[in-house]
Amino acid sequence: MDSKNKSMIIPVAGGKGGTGKSFFTANLGIALTRLGYNVLVIDLDLGGSNLHSYLGVPNRFPGIGDYIKARSARFEELIIPTGIENLNFIPGDGQTPFMANIAYAQKLKLIRSIQKMQADYILLDLGAGSGYNTLDFFAVTRRGLMITTPDFPAIMNSMVFFKNFVLRRIERTVRRNLQAKEYLQSVFKLPMGEENIQVGKIFDDLAEISTELADKAKKECSRYQPLMIYNMVEQPDDMKAVSKIDSNLKNRLQLEVNHIGFIPYAKEAMASVRRREVFFPHYEKSPAARLIMLIAKRIVQIGQAHVENSTEIVLQDAKKYFRLNPDITR
Ligand SMILES: Nc1ncnc2c1ncn2[C@@H]1O[C@H](COP(=O)(O)OP(=O)(O)OP(=O)(O)O)[C@@H](O)[C@H]1O
Ligand SMILES: [Mg+2]
Repeated sequence: MDSKNKSMIIPVAGGKGGTGKSFFTANLGIALTRLGYNVLVIDLDLGGSNLHSYLGVPNRFPGIGDYIKARSARFEELIIPTGIENLNFIPGDGQTPFMANIAYAQKLKLIRSIQKMQADYILLDLGAGSGYNTLDFFAVTRRGLMITTPDFPAIMNSMVFFKNFVLRRIERTVRRNLQAKEYLQSVFKLPMGEENIQVGKIFDDLAEISTELADKAKKECSRYQPLMIYNMVEQPDDMKAVSKIDSNLKNRLQLEVNHIGFIPYAKEAMASVRRREVFFPHYEKSPAARLIMLIAKRIVQIGQAHVENSTEIVLQDAKKYFRLNPDITR
């Protein structure tokens, strides 16, 4: 739990568009209410908000875009009930759909307002990719959640997201030292290709500029322990990449990630959006809903604790699932 109040804030990111961030945020929110928690879901995909459609809420309420534009409104006034017990919602764009770029000071104010909200869980649906807004919202807590699909481009984009996230944290820590800042900016421009970034090397290079600064950057990065979810999984082989992702993040970025679940591809998901039904309550018995519930339970159970062997656990989950459901295909 976060120290200031009792809320646990979970930003939901995806390296690439369409990995299921909004679908998952909405349905994880509902699953957490079923476990007896009070949940607030916030649409922070400014410029591309659509979380309301996964919650069955009409798009006619003011949102964060209006709040930033008007400056005068109180943040709490944006909260609207969803019709689902214990689930409240704050829309993103509202009537101001052109707020994709916001100034750093506004972003900090927004983050502080979110941190003051009272709920057991506050879920943040973020925009796709690794723009500064998304990276900074992901840094609000040590336990951000990354949702990826198992295809190679999506996984690569998740890795790029984490690379940019770590670099952004280092940059924010060292930015007052001009030499360090310039060095970081040059690293930011390197591709995540063959000459993969080794964060250990960055800390070494920074230590040449200032050991104190390098230590500070290291400490900042070690605060984070993101969660990872695999969505739209269709076959056991889809989960093959998990161990590699894990070791890559550890070795290259010194990032410990906990893999806490997977969600199978669900035909009902598309149909539910088309019919304007909220997925979870309509398909509660479906495999996807049951696995979302399992993820919700794990989130509650682990809190801020580190999960040993999360790679093995999620691989076992998938193995068991596909043994019991051998004929699941699109
Ligand atoms: N497990 C699943 N099985 C089948 N379809 C899914 C699943 N998860 C999400 N979808 C569908 O995939 C599409 C994209 O999902 P969603 O809008 O949540 O992605 P997103 O990551 O929020 O996208 P964006 O980057 O555009 O915000 C939607 O039509 C959604 O219903
Ligand atoms: Mg979305």
